[in-house]
Amino acid sequence: MPPALIAAPRMKNKSCFTRRIGIAALLALGALAARPGLAAPPPPGHVPDTIEQRVAACIACHGREGSSTEAGYFPRLSGKPAGYLFNQLQSYRDGRRFNSDMTHMVRHMSDAYLREIAEYFAAIQLPYPAPPATTDATPAMLARGKALVFEGDPARDIPACVRCHGESLTGVLPGIPGLVGLPRLYLSSQLGAWLTNDRHALEPDCMAKVGRKLTSADINAVTSWLVMQPVPADPKPQAAPPSPVPMGCSALNP
Ligand code: HEC
Ligand code: HEC
Repeated sequence: MPPALIAAPRMKNKSCFTRRIGIAALLALGALAARPGLAAPPPPGHVPDTIEQRVAACIACHGREGSSTEAGYFPRLSGKPAGYLFNQLQSYRDGRRFNSDMTHMVRHMSDAYLREIAEYFAAIQLPYPAPPATTDATPAMLARGKALVFEGDPARDIPACVRCHGESLTGVLPGIPGLVGLPRLYLSSQLGAWLTNDRHALEPDCMAKVGRKLTSADINAVTSWLVMQPVPADPKPQAAPPSPVPMGCSALNP
């Protein structure tokens, strides 16, 4: 995939990025998010305030019960580690991750509310679609992608993806997501965001350190290989990394 295509889905977010909220605005958002009103029960006669009701808007984009739609960009939510989903919702709200739709969705939500939504989606187990039958990637490209996943690139100090994302690439609790079963455009866009320093987590932000080292060719190779992998029969995230992770990650500290 040419770099232009990697950048494409992020264009819409740039205005949001450049309008990056200042400290004062962030404090104001924090105050709003702390309002207890959001969790207040609705007056009698209104639609009941159930979690299903609250996540109806999310499903409009992310697909039924959080599974990704055919639109090819919206990431799946169901079955992802609750800690990971919570961190991402907080990141959109607090300006570490930029997507105008997502920021709009969560800007007034409290941590307690975001955690409830995260736990709701994490608990949903739905089958994953089969991977595509064909690829336009060359065998050399696929081999390069696979090598990055299982061995990394020691000469460039890039650790193997499996060391953090788990041997079966289904993620690791509490905060590392799986890398299989995601749309290619979404994967490329996220890896592109680390390359351009547009996606952040709380420090230590290990994925930003890894992502910054990948070139467009690496991204192309690794995403080509990843999308061809079936999601294993047991798609649940692993309870712990296979061995100590190669660097500190806030995602592993709940
Ligand atoms: C208008 C469409 C839209 C709506 C509505 C929406 N989302 Fe999203 N969501 C997106 C897009 C697009 C992305 C990918 C954004 C990016 O590139 O960072 C995303 C990303 C996410 C992610 C990050 C996933 C990952 O793997 O990192 C989470 C979590 C999420 N959304 C949760 C929600 C929840 C919960 C709601 C409802 C409260 C919601 N979304 C409503 C479009 C939407
Ligand atoms: C040192 C640990 C570590 C290594 C090694 C690592 N990752 Fe990650 N990765 C993470 C963490 C932690 C996150 C979650 C980041 C966040 O919370 O924003 C993540 C997130 C991601 C995501 C975002 C998924 C989504 O749903 O949005 C992608 C894509 C990704 N990593 C790809 C890779 C690839 C490809 C490699 C190998 C070249 C790799 N990672 C190696 C820790 C790691």
